[in-house]
Amino acid sequence: MDYFKIRGKTPLHGRIPISGAKNAALPILAATLLTDKMSTLLNVPHLNDITTMVELLGALGTDVAIDESMALKVSAAQVNNQRAPYELVKTMRASILVMGPLLARFGRAEVSFPGGCAIGNRPVDLHLKGFEAMGASIDVRDGYIVGSTENRLKGCDFTFDTVTVGGTENLLMAAVLAEGRTVLRNAAREPEINDLIAFLRGMGAEIEGDDTSTLVINGVSKLGANHYSVMPDRIEAGTFLVAAAATRGCVTVENANAEHLGIVLEKLRDAGVKVIVEGNSITADMTEGQLTSIDLITAPYPGFPTDMQAQFTALNVVAHGVGRITETIFENRLMQAHEMSRMGANITVDGHSVIIRGKSNIDGAPVMASDLRASASLVIAGLAANGETHVDRIYHIDRGYERIEEKLQAVGADIVRKSR
Ligand code: UD1
Repeated sequence: MDYFKIRGKTPLHGRIPISGAKNAALPILAATLLTDKMSTLLNVPHLNDITTMVELLGALGTDVAIDESMALKVSAAQVNNQRAPYELVKTMRASILVMGPLLARFGRAEVSFPGGCAIGNRPVDLHLKGFEAMGASIDVRDGYIVGSTENRLKGCDFTFDTVTVGGTENLLMAAVLAEGRTVLRNAAREPEINDLIAFLRGMGAEIEGDDTSTLVINGVSKLGANHYSVMPDRIEAGTFLVAAAATRGCVTVENANAEHLGIVLEKLRDAGVKVIVEGNSITADMTEGQLTSIDLITAPYPGFPTDMQAQFTALNVVAHGVGRITETIFENRLMQAHEMSRMGANITVDGHSVIIRGKSNIDGAPVMASDLRASASLVIAGLAANGETHVDRIYHIDRGYERIEEKLQAVGADIVRKSR
């Protein structure tokens, strides 16, 4: 099993190119199932989760190829079954995103029930409630969610009880081919939803309400070919900016979109980091001044992203003063706190919050990654610590960060991938 060996305390300096967003590419790949015409996708990141989604599309009968410009060409003309098997769904919960497109185009979808996961119980009840509101019948048989409809799905007026990113995406994809008009209320407003909307529009879908929590979709009977470049990964960009600050370095992330990082950049500035935005580059400079602890509470977009919470915990660990970080979106998403304590960090877990008393020095230690963003935060802590840190179970990090060790090495980090 691979692990990272990190020798910390080197300030990071330089430029890092940002890849396409995993969380935008996954629903967009699922959306290619909505048409029998060719979809061409650029800026798709090379990540394990993307490979899983491509395998899933392949298992359904979709043809996926990469051309000489590294564009992904996807043709779902020959889809010959509508079953997302357990072996793939168990490795990636986002597999549920094929359900909306399959139901809308073929009137049938079977998706292995996504189980619990390291960051708590993550139900899909709202996805299913929405499909039912569109006229589908939903059953659970032999561990599979089976959705079916005799006729086309029907437009409906649906209000989400909780803001859900995946739920909004799934119902959006179902609604674009449904009969009549669908209104989705209390919809998520994450930038990745806008990216999916832009992709669907490029296929001929009729959607209004970008950037708002009410989406109005007028169903069409067919969707066409599309050529689309996936948005930059805001979480990858944010992670490297935090790593720069935690090591007292200066890093510019390139091909990023600062508009998607509003509150993240604000919190970095509150922590004393000099943040400069120039076009599609963002610089975090912490070579001067004092790094100060900050408080934050996660919330749906445009609130502070849960996917950046662990990285800011690592930042507070090596900052001056006391900070409180509160997680409101997921249960069990504070596991990095225990691992950071093993590095000498002063952290107390208090219900859904962690209270961190910053220290100027923490020590390297063997630590274990528990989920994708927790692993990123342990890498940041290792880069900021004295001595050597081993981060184990980095398969979590490979799900969501493209060549993270190479990108960090390019800005001076002493990090190597090793196998046991
Ligand atoms: C997506 C992101 C993930 C991010 C999360 C929140 C992808 C592939 N993943 O996950 O990186 O951390 O958004 O920004 O884009 N919920 C229900 N019922 C449902 C669906 C969700 O109760 O049917 C709850 C969840 O348990 C959670 C909250 O809603 O407490 C938000 O989850 P959701 O936004 O759906 O997260 P994902 O789409 O799984």
